[in-house]
Amino acid sequence: MARKKIVAGNWKMNMTPSQAVELVNTLKPLVVSDDVEVVYCVPAIDIVPVVEAVKGSNVTVGAENMYFEDKGAYTGEISAEMLVDAGVKYVIIGHSERRDYFKEDDALLNKKVKKALEAGLVPILCCGESLEQREMGVTLDWIRLQIKSDLQGVSASQVAGMVIAYEPIWAIGTGKTATTEQAQEVCKAIRDTIAEIYDASTADAVRIQYGGSVNAANANELFSQPDIDGGLVGGASLKADFGKIVNYK
Ligand code: 13P
Repeated sequence: MARKKIVAGNWKMNMTPSQAVELVNTLKPLVVSDDVEVVYCVPAIDIVPVVEAVKGSNVTVGAENMYFEDKGAYTGEISAEMLVDAGVKYVIIGHSERRDYFKEDDALLNKKVKKALEAGLVPILCCGESLEQREMGVTLDWIRLQIKSDLQGVSASQVAGMVIAYEPIWAIGTGKTATTEQAQEVCKAIRDTIAEIYDASTADAVRIQYGGSVNAANANELFSQPDIDGGLVGGASLKADFGKIVNYK
């Protein structure tokens, strides 16, 4: 079965609740597509108004983070159940900004992936190498290690429904996109890793996005690669250009 493309905006720490609603309304006519699933991953405080604002459109809503515990004394955190109850479908887990600035490691991310799945959320699990790692020639080893660690104890059927985002750290917010060949090579390596840990049909089903300076000019070439099933888009998801990325063909 052909995998449906998925283009997700990662708004990061941008947009107040009122700006968020305005952006959703501006983008509404521009992101209509039958072929591409469209997701807005928004700051926690924007979730409720954005879920309301996308009603009746083809857009679904994601969170940018969550905690793995069910409830309790974890000041400032948000649970999977809270997200589900608010109407969230996706959750970004392990973005490089969280791994770096908030010291989230693979053991923690594995717990988050499992909790998200248990709650019925679809994790968008991020992985990616630093420039130093790429220059040392360890990119594929590093990505395999991240994927294997983050998916410990996750079943084949759960992985089949997940999204994995390959985001080379050196390409995020830098305007420096990975070449199509680099992006395809790593996305294929991720799929091969899933085939190795699980089986060919799981690898065939899992959707793998590329992220890192995706824009209206490079989306078509990137998303046309055999192992790239769409994109995780930062800066360009906050502008009308996002419509062109969704309708990349
Ligand atoms: P940019 O598209 O701004 O490079 O960000 C990519 C990203 O981090 C998406 O998660």
